Amino acid sequence: RPRVFSGIQPTADSFHLGNYLGALRNWVAMQETHDAFYCVVDQHAITMGHDPIALRNRTRISAAQLLALGLDPERCTLFVQSHVPEHAQLSWVLQCITGFGEASRMVQFKDKSAKSGQDGTTVGLFAYPILQAADILLYQADQVPVGEDQRQHLELTRDLAQRFNSRFGRTFNLPAAYILQDTAKIFDLQDPTAKMSKSSSSPAGIIDLLEDPARSAKKIKSAVTDTGREILYDEENKPGVSNLLTIFAALTTRTIDELLEQYDGRGYGDLKKDLADAVVGFVKPVQERTRAFLEDPGYLDKVLAVGAEKARAVAAPTLAEAYQHVGFLSPV
Ligand code: TYM
Repeated sequence: RPRVFSGIQPTADSFHLGNYLGALRNWVAMQETHDAFYCVVDQHAITMGHDPIALRNRTRISAAQLLALGLDPERCTLFVQSHVPEHAQLSWVLQCITGFGEASRMVQFKDKSAKSGQDGTTVGLFAYPILQAADILLYQADQVPVGEDQRQHLELTRDLAQRFNSRFGRTFNLPAAYILQDTAKIFDLQDPTAKMSKSSSSPAGIIDLLEDPARSAKKIKSAVTDTGREILYDEENKPGVSNLLTIFAALTTRTIDELLEQYDGRGYGDLKKDLADAVVGFVKPVQERTRAFLEDPGYLDKVLAVGAEKARAVAAPTLAEAYQHVGFLSPV
């Protein structure tokens, strides 16, 4: 079975619909076909300032949501990044083969550091994509299911793997991004030219999986739509309606064409109402299952402990090989 690795940050109290449609639903699908490793990347979540109590809670809530969305610990390895020290260890080695300019060109770093200013920007934020590369390379992953916003980080990961291999001898498999074009980028409901994002969307622009479903329904109904009244898929001229169609199709596993046929001659209001119902129907059971997992912390801890052990069994030999190749003296 090909190997898959992916990660998600525990930086909010809830994942949002963009996370699910862009990435997490692929995580769920790929546990059936791949040897799958999925990680709550808590070490990535401390690069921009954070609250320790919130981080610990969010790490648990993240794991509970992933199980509620359909990850099955019998079918995949689910773990927390800080439980596997090899991530930070390999990251250091990779930082030492990354150019300063190369890391400076990462678009997410540029965006986030521009907002934080020189002294608000941490070295950790700068090194963030290199830790991400370490995450992936430790598991010799073949594929990495992510949204479009991670493409550049995946390219850096491949570059670093290639560079390491050619400088020190073959050590890492070259991973490929696995991005489903249809839902690679889910847009903000209030600004359908910007991505739905926990850090930059307004509350009305983002659907949190764990928020009150009535609130989600309201947000869908007040989503910004476009001039004209016809329901068409046209990303350029009708980004708002197109985004709603994308979300609707993905949530109900229908094609955009089927939806266009169904809504031919009908108005935006009908589409929004039906999509709101679909969203509510989707999130309700996810919320119930998340709550149930959170009420059983013993089970959650056990899943994560077993996951960390399975992860280390793969990560440790890769790190040992990388250390060997890079010339570190092995301890006796
Ligand atoms: P994060 O935590 O920001 O997001 C998790 C996943 O959700 C995807 N995503 C979206 N997809 C479509 N439309 C959107 N509006 C949208 N918003 C978010 C992201 O692309 C991502 O796949 N750096 C990563 C976490 C990470 C990682 C890794 C990923 C750390 N190590 C190793 C893969 C492999 C991040 O910040 O994702």
